[in-house]
Amino acid sequence: MKLLTHAAEVITGSGVRRKFGRQPKVDDMDRIPDGAMVYDEKRILWVGKTKDLPKRFAKLKAQSLKNKKIVTPGLVDCHTHLVHAGSRSEEFAARCAGESYESIAKRGGGIWSTVRATREATEAELFKLACERVEYARSTGVKVIESKSGYGLNIEGEIKQLNVNQLLKKKFNDMIFSSTFLGAHDFPKDQPRADYIRDICDVMLPLVAKKKLADCCDVFSDRGYYTPEETRYILSRAKELGLDIKVHADELQNTEATDLAVDLGAWSADHLLKVSEASVRRIAHSNTVAVLLPGTAFFLKTPYAPARRLIDDGARVAIATDFNPGSCNNFSLRFMMTLSALFMNMSAAEIFAAVTFNAAAALRLEKTIGTLEVGLKPLFSLFDAEKFEDIYYKMTV
Ligand code: NIG
Ligand code: FE
Repeated sequence: MKLLTHAAEVITGSGVRRKFGRQPKVDDMDRIPDGAMVYDEKRILWVGKTKDLPKRFAKLKAQSLKNKKIVTPGLVDCHTHLVHAGSRSEEFAARCAGESYESIAKRGGGIWSTVRATREATEAELFKLACERVEYARSTGVKVIESKSGYGLNIEGEIKQLNVNQLLKKKFNDMIFSSTFLGAHDFPKDQPRADYIRDICDVMLPLVAKKKLADCCDVFSDRGYYTPEETRYILSRAKELGLDIKVHADELQNTEATDLAVDLGAWSADHLLKVSEASVRRIAHSNTVAVLLPGTAFFLKTPYAPARRLIDDGARVAIATDFNPGSCNNFSLRFMMTLSALFMNMSAAEIFAAVTFNAAAALRLEKTIGTLEVGLKPLFSLFDAEKFEDIYYKMTV
């Protein structure tokens, strides 16, 4: 058993859980000043004020945080493209000179440029790159990372990326990884479109499901990428095979992919930069989590997702990095929290819920993690801070 005492605050988030992450207010954070927590390897045994520590725990050797650190539920980055090789700094320069993300993709850059580099890299090289990145994220307090494939776009390449996810799970056993198959990220240039969709549905998805290489299947459903019909077809097949689903939705254009995600019972609809008013209402009344990726709006210089409308209408809102070499080359969830405060007008309670309970819900992990309550897994983060707001007031890039 372990005992932490004298945390400047322990933020349990119990109220956020009670409200299923909807419209979180400051009281829902359940901030305990001069807090303490008792836990063993498997679960949290007690949380409260240090002065209220029950007698039965009094003999434990305490690690005092001297009121210099805070304790939060482990931060969850629920949308990343972490396994990739190569750089797109030249494309970045082209974008800075005025060329659009989509125009770069049309001339063979964009996702394709990363597919080329990732296909060339060995599994060991990809693993090494991913480990360095994970170590950075962990140093910023992130404890849970979702990681997508999607830079292979053929059987071999996709499986190679998913294998790296499995290696990460083994190496970082103090963290949790959620693996997502995103074979439908773009279309291969060396194969007809319909053939590739057949490969996804008849070869890749059955293999991924059989070998348990992914928890979830995602599709980039957008203008120039997968149509709503193709998205529905692929995700229905994934569901048939027992995989859960999520959708890259309404990022470049409103194609009503958010509604499709809700219709299909997806864990989450992600991006929502161009989501319509009607779809905001639709997702707000569903259990599908709206995953917002402010770093992408920042890096692509586009308007941010309508976080206020989503939250005010009652949606479960999470935020994540979308870390990838094209649309958000940054892996700091804390920087995303800063952007959410500044540009999406989110309050501390909303940001807190968005990187803990709601982000866990976007990965269907909220039954065991996401808040610090008795019986849950002891997955928590420690920060050198006096209060929650400090961890994103200081810009960590
Ligand atoms: O989430 N939207 C699709 N995929 C990524 C971008 C991938 C890339 O540009 O390499 C995203 O923004
Ligand atoms: Fe993405």
